[in-house]
Amino acid sequence: LRPLDPFVLLDRFASDDPAAYIRGFPDHPHRGFETVSVMLDGHIRHRDSRGNQGLVRGGGAQWMTAGRGIVHSEMPEQDRGLLSGFQLWVNLPAREKMCAPFYQDLAPAQLAEARLSPAGNTARVIAGDVSGLAGPVRERPTRPTLVTVTLEDDRPFVAEVPADHVAFAFVHRGLVEIGPEGRSTRVPENTIALLGPGRRVRMRAPDRRSGLLFAAARPIGEPIVQRGPFVMNTDDEIRRAFADYQAGTLDKG
Ligand code: CO
Repeated sequence: LRPLDPFVLLDRFASDDPAAYIRGFPDHPHRGFETVSVMLDGHIRHRDSRGNQGLVRGGGAQWMTAGRGIVHSEMPEQDRGLLSGFQLWVNLPAREKMCAPFYQDLAPAQLAEARLSPAGNTARVIAGDVSGLAGPVRERPTRPTLVTVTLEDDRPFVAEVPADHVAFAFVHRGLVEIGPEGRSTRVPENTIALLGPGRRVRMRAPDRRSGLLFAAARPIGEPIVQRGPFVMNTDDEIRRAFADYQAGTLDKG
């Protein structure tokens, strides 16, 4: 997601084949940014080097600020059925990259849910403010908005993108028309749409039964050097991250 500072990466996973997901993501490090897991279906168990653990359940999310460093595993807690969701990497400004790590497990009931139509259009707000609802993740440096939207009829979901934010919508199910009435773009399944700043964005499912992830945030405007699981400002900082990880001190201090 390089053109979308402060977003770094979006991983979409969806499989009902246990052989494809059962190995999960065993112990690995992160430094310098935030990882956000959004579960649509299935369960993932998180364990980390600080002794935390939690279950991220379908309909829920986890917002982890890696800061100066954390080593964690993310493993499916199921051996059959559908595992579906996203992991989004949100960068941190230089002044926050070495902050103490922390994470929030967000059970489905902790998200703010708006029913947008009688047929069951819903917006579930993880971060920021949408449709008059405040998501549980607040006060992050990039002022993110993150929402999962289910469209069961053809009434639109409308989001405001602030003038100083970048934004995207990822359609994970069905087909969604995005943009002003009469000038919208048809965005098919498994496609990302980049949304301009300072706009009211209308998202409508003409064929119904669609779903999308909507995200917006304020760019940081600093150099980005990413190698593997580390996102820093300079090559030297990346070398330091690898050295700290190899020395076993990434998450100490
Ligand atoms: Co990870």
